[in-house]
Amino acid sequence: MRKMTVGIMGGTGHQGKGITKRILKNTDLTVMIGSRLKEKAERVVSEEFNEYSSRVVPIHNSELRGADVIFLTIPSNQAIEMLEPYKEWLRSKIIVDCMNPVDFSSGTPIWKPPKEGSMTQMLIERLGFSRSLAALKAIGAKILNSDKKIEQSLFVAGDDEEAKNTLIEILESFPASGVVDIGSASSVPYMEAMATLAIRLSFQKKKGSVGFKVVYQ
Ligand SMILES: NC(=O)c1ccc[n+]([C@@H]2O[C@H](COP(=O)([O-])OP(=O)(O)OC[C@H]3O[C@@H](n4cnc5c(N)ncnc54)[C@H](OP(=O)(O)O)[C@@H]3O)[C@@H](O)[C@H]2O)c1
Repeated sequence: MRKMTVGIMGGTGHQGKGITKRILKNTDLTVMIGSRLKEKAERVVSEEFNEYSSRVVPIHNSELRGADVIFLTIPSNQAIEMLEPYKEWLRSKIIVDCMNPVDFSSGTPIWKPPKEGSMTQMLIERLGFSRSLAALKAIGAKILNSDKKIEQSLFVAGDDEEAKNTLIEILESFPASGVVDIGSASSVPYMEAMATLAIRLSFQKKKGSVGFKVVYQ
């Protein structure tokens, strides 16, 4: 895999830690754990990633400028507010949107996408992040944080083919039951709807991590 630095905005949360763990364990890449509070990121590194101390860097989100690929694992309803101050330099980065615009307030998870159609399309259209991709929306943090092989497909979507190939290389290391490119950014609503269904099923069935696997028969 070519040398690059991966950053995670929201790296102190469940999904961010799971992605960090998979990358540190299965590649030799360096991961920057971003937080609104650098001390919080430092605490996460010392408590959970000490064994990788030479390749994991706790930082404030503003320092993600040093990363080539940036995963977004922040709440979807905070995204615009959090990204706006950094938008000039974020426009040149490969952005990996992992956010699900799901409303839990009624007790039943409901997909509430932005008017652009999905979070990724919103990042492209509203903030000008043309290299935005979507991934890891339909896979739970619990399985990412485990030591198990991921018996699910990992879906990716986005318009920038070169950026997508870079992301696919990272995801193939996890390892999982294949990485499936579902197409351009216009396909992301299907991924978010799938993620909402996975969340609903995991609520209803109470059988641990729910996900999907593409089978060609
Ligand atoms: N959990 C899953 O299984 C899963 C699966 C697929 C996708 N996702 C998506 O991944 C994103 C993160 O989910 P998560 O479960 O990892 O959430 P989480 O554990 O709450 O982590 C979110 C992180 O975002 C940062 N943040 C920024 N503004 C915040 C705010 N107002 N309130 C709370 N946190 C804020 C926090 O980092 P700092 O305080 O360090 O800044 C926090 O650690 C969401 O968009 C979710 O839809 C989650």
